[in-house]
Amino acid sequence: MRLTSPGPAMPLAGKRILLVISGGIAAYKSLDLIRRLRERGAEVRPVMTAGAQEFVTPLAVGALSSGHVYTDLFSREDEQDVGHIRLARDCDLVLVAPATADLMAKMANGLAGDLASAVLIATDRPVLLAPAMNPKMWANPATRRNVETLRADGHAFIGPNAGEMAEGGEAGLGRMAEPLEIVAAVERLIDGGAKPLAGRRAVVTSGPTHEPIDPVRYIANRSSGRQGHAIAAALTRLGADVTLVSGPVTLPDPPGVNVVRVERAEEMLQAVLSALPADIAVMVAAVADWRAAAPNAEKIKKQPGEGPPPLMLTENPDILKTVGHHADRPKIVVGFAAETQDVEKNGRVKLKKKGADLIVANDVSPETGIMGGTRNSVKLITEAGITAWPDLSKDEVAGRLAGWIAERLT
Ligand code: C5P
Repeated sequence: MRLTSPGPAMPLAGKRILLVISGGIAAYKSLDLIRRLRERGAEVRPVMTAGAQEFVTPLAVGALSSGHVYTDLFSREDEQDVGHIRLARDCDLVLVAPATADLMAKMANGLAGDLASAVLIATDRPVLLAPAMNPKMWANPATRRNVETLRADGHAFIGPNAGEMAEGGEAGLGRMAEPLEIVAAVERLIDGGAKPLAGRRAVVTSGPTHEPIDPVRYIANRSSGRQGHAIAAALTRLGADVTLVSGPVTLPDPPGVNVVRVERAEEMLQAVLSALPADIAVMVAAVADWRAAAPNAEKIKKQPGEGPPPLMLTENPDILKTVGHHADRPKIVVGFAAETQDVEKNGRVKLKKKGADLIVANDVSPETGIMGGTRNSVKLITEAGITAWPDLSKDEVAGRLAGWIAERLT
């Protein structure tokens, strides 16, 4: 009897991968990567930067991928044949391996001066990056900013790994992920889209609270909910399962978000606790610090001859502090600090007191127009220090913050 083997599994059968190889020593591993992808049934179309061609030759890449290698944005032949726009779209996934600091900087800033960066800005397909660089370059604040931007733009990352650098003598985070790890990430993405927060639960608070004085009057503040709602939407875009606990706002519910509407701080706290356990908590709501100690059941009437009634206040629960010290504390706890003076100092104090990993501090003095407005200018305060972001729209702040969170969780 002759035994027949079922043959190797072909999880990528019929899938087309555009492989962008940029210029780093790790480019030699891309040769093996091409072989591994093809073994699994994928068709691989390589694009090489000028730098990549200094490390491996188009001849070797072409021999392994068994097809044309694209190198030149202004090649008359290639532009007539497929063109960089079709190249960018005629695939199921764009894989950048190795992704150098230089290529990531170009991507994060929308540059398109060579074929690789033009393809990356023109594509509407999921993009997976396998960074490879010296540990100092990976740790550089400019690279950190670019990685956060790329994550916020919805791009996925695999690696880098820790280990010895190819140039020897230096170790740290920066080695390109191994070809089989990259292949596994490709398989996950082709099935699931670029969702670095897939499978993660998040709870976000947003808007003001209304604390009743009597059935018609309440204590409130000027929060619009724009920043909190934008953060809930951005986390959802990255694949998180988000519960948004919102005080009274006039904004539409962000799509795909589970919205719980509340009025009072105490209700907000209960709704947040019901959403635990979660991986991420972002407490953006402008929770009233105080509520009326004994709200009147009936409308308080003006009494002729008597002065205004006294309004006794009592403290509200601190939701962020409760979550930051909870037995089920989420892995990432983020708070906001709306201040009108000593923004950095107060932010640092708040980080400790509230048990948060990050305080996003902003100056809400009336002249900034931030409270209730559409733009925000924030400082990120962590144990490690303070980073100031430029003036951005609240949507941009949300996208970057979701990227910051994704980077810390993955
Ligand atoms: O102490 P302060 O109100 O300035 O802290 C602001 C941060 O704490 C924000 O993240 C806000 O959502 C949160 N907070 C809270 N519950 C309160 C007061 C503030 O969750 N009662």
